[in-house]
Amino acid sequence: MAATILDGKAFAATVRAQVATHVAALKASHGLTPGLAVVLVGEDPASQVYVRNKGKQTAEAGMASFEHKLDASTPEADILAIVDKLNADPAVHGILVQLPLPGHVDSAKVINRIDPAKDVDGFHISNVGLLSTGQKAMVPCTPLGCLMMLRSHLGDLSGLNAVVVGRSNIVGKPMAQLLLGDSCTVTIAHSRTRDLAATCRAADILVAAVGRPEMIPGDWVKPGATVIDVGINRVPHPDDPAKTKLVGDVHFASAVAVAGAITPVPGGVGPMTIACLLANTLTACCRANGLPEPEGLTA
Ligand code: GUN
Repeated sequence: MAATILDGKAFAATVRAQVATHVAALKASHGLTPGLAVVLVGEDPASQVYVRNKGKQTAEAGMASFEHKLDASTPEADILAIVDKLNADPAVHGILVQLPLPGHVDSAKVINRIDPAKDVDGFHISNVGLLSTGQKAMVPCTPLGCLMMLRSHLGDLSGLNAVVVGRSNIVGKPMAQLLLGDSCTVTIAHSRTRDLAATCRAADILVAAVGRPEMIPGDWVKPGATVIDVGINRVPHPDDPAKTKLVGDVHFASAVAVAGAITPVPGGVGPMTIACLLANTLTACCRANGLPEPEGLTA
């Protein structure tokens, strides 16, 4: 039987609608408007698209959106000064510094300057530590989106074998922590893993986050497994080399015949990232004001 296609586009729309409902209620009951500030340094085209989409979706959810677009040559000290200002601004509940930053800037220094309570990316070392010790943290958006989709499809995840392929700080490591938090038996695999095929075949939940186009074929997938493909890779179009197309880290055509459920690329995990960014901004606003957190929108 062919796999269930997990529709991230529809799921993300539902999350955004839930966020918008909570935002409207916060305004009505407490006169509060959650605010998200984005700092973009330089003219990287992909980053500009991300930031434009973030601004649009933030406004659509009824939140305040603040944008700081800086020249690529902006000194590190000036970026730190902006972060300090945003940390002190009570209208700003979430701060996102778009990565990558230009080479002359120490990204870790900038990220760790953000007030951890406003770190809606969940990249600050305090949030990394809180997540890994099972305490209340701000959780990175893409792994949070994957977790929401897994819980929605599978219900209770406890006892399942989860394999995360990829060990990045942004996806692989926090994804593994979240799955461990939901009582999965977790393996983190990577480019040096001895028998990657066998490791993947043991997975009830397979999360691919390596950034290598169609690297995981269908015969690495356990029959009935739930496959979450985080990869977004642009490759030449097979029918027209002048064009490109997006593919994931999983070879979709062969995996869909084996898996129980699978996220497509595009339209799978991708749209969940900004939806979870909005959810995190709402959560940060609630926490900052001592209000209950929105249910179902946190880890
Ligand atoms: N660049 C690409 N994706 C992201 C993200 O989720 N957060 C930040 N800060 N930068 C990014």
